[in-house]
Amino acid sequence: GIKIVTIGGGSSYTPELIEGFIKRYDSLPISELWLVDIPEGEDKLNTVGALAQRMVEEAGVPMKIHLTLDRKEALKGADFVTTQFRVGLLDARAKDERIPLKYNVIGQETNGPGGLFKGLRTIPVILDIVQDMEELCPNAWLINFTNPAGMVTEAIYRHSNWRKVVGLCNVPVGMKMGVAQMLDVDADRVHIDFAGLNHMVYGLNIYLDGENVTETVIKKLTSGEASMTMSNIMDLGWQPEFLQSLGVLPCPYHRYYYQTGRMLEKELEEAADKGTRAEVVQALENDLFELYKDENLRGKPEQLEKRGGAYYSDAACNLIDSLYNDRKDIQPVNTMNNGAIASIPNDSAVEVNCVITKDGPKPLAVGDLPVATRGLVQEIKSFERVASEAAVTGDYKTGLLAMTINPLVPSDHVAKEIFDEMLEAHKDYLPQF
Ligand code: G6P
Ligand code: MN
Ligand code: MN
Repeated sequence: GIKIVTIGGGSSYTPELIEGFIKRYDSLPISELWLVDIPEGEDKLNTVGALAQRMVEEAGVPMKIHLTLDRKEALKGADFVTTQFRVGLLDARAKDERIPLKYNVIGQETNGPGGLFKGLRTIPVILDIVQDMEELCPNAWLINFTNPAGMVTEAIYRHSNWRKVVGLCNVPVGMKMGVAQMLDVDADRVHIDFAGLNHMVYGLNIYLDGENVTETVIKKLTSGEASMTMSNIMDLGWQPEFLQSLGVLPCPYHRYYYQTGRMLEKELEEAADKGTRAEVVQALENDLFELYKDENLRGKPEQLEKRGGAYYSDAACNLIDSLYNDRKDIQPVNTMNNGAIASIPNDSAVEVNCVITKDGPKPLAVGDLPVATRGLVQEIKSFERVASEAAVTGDYKTGLLAMTINPLVPSDHVAKEIFDEMLEAHKDYLPQF
């Protein structure tokens, strides 16, 4: 059987993953699932672990659930390792969102200053995990969900020799489901050519039963007939002429770049009113864990759908299934570019449609992105590279450089003020600085 290890196993998202594994048990016979967490997460781990156990029993699949705080013990002989941890927990996310807002800068967990600091906290930990994997499960695949997933994947390519890594996000599958809903058709009739970076991915062409419907989709999106976003991102609607001339489908996160001023206004309003997203999610999580504790609960509760991670288990399970069964189907994942997108370095991480084989994702050649999108994508890629360098070296100037070149940060002086304040606020989780 297959041994899977999930790091950050106490996450409220875990039941989502368990549900996916149970559904696919016939083609993906997982005999051992190890949920790993840190001591601060022990209560959550126990609660989620007990629910996972009940789910597996209810479904009658012989999957053994192990709960542990000992990562090394868990990693021994693993076939797949999935990572979904959050360094500093939601408190750190709330700071990532709140501090930039004080300077009238977007406060978001994977974009702008927040994304930088999430990366600075996370990258050293992921590189530690990779080191453990080299020793304990050198043939395993690492499936990384931990945000900022693009920057994290980039850091692994730049700062380790580990290559069996795939970065994963639910944004592309969310876009596909959104298009299917908008056209009122089954999702399997829709195909999208995805290309770009994580949380900066575009749908270059959209097909319905093989026919190109990109223009129709963009029209519906700009006429107000249909909307498309995720629970964690406000939908302000798109300026019609802009989107029509861009000619490709942006992802929900592109709003932070193309609608910066309006998004900032909304964020400030919401932060004052019901709190930032982390604060909202904290309340949601408390409710979720109350539900998880109920011994009569033997499946995934509906409330989990209020989180931004909808379809995350489908993305993860489909990927693992195709790697394991050599399915050679097409899935959008974060992998090494290897020439798929001309204007991105070959050895950088991109989010692009790939053929998923047992030897990993093989990216499909895109040629290049439309000229109007290229600059922004390159700018974010530069940011991710400088940021991951800073995460590894702990060099102050490199970190500040990353902050300053981020397109959501307006000036060198503001960059320094935000950088210094965030460095101080997160110092417990930034031992390298
Ligand atoms: C989307 C993104 C994930 C992110 C999530 C946040 O699903 O793809 O990378 O973690 O939103 O959702 P939340 O409910 O935590 O705000
Ligand atoms: Mn290095
Ligand atoms: Mn994501």
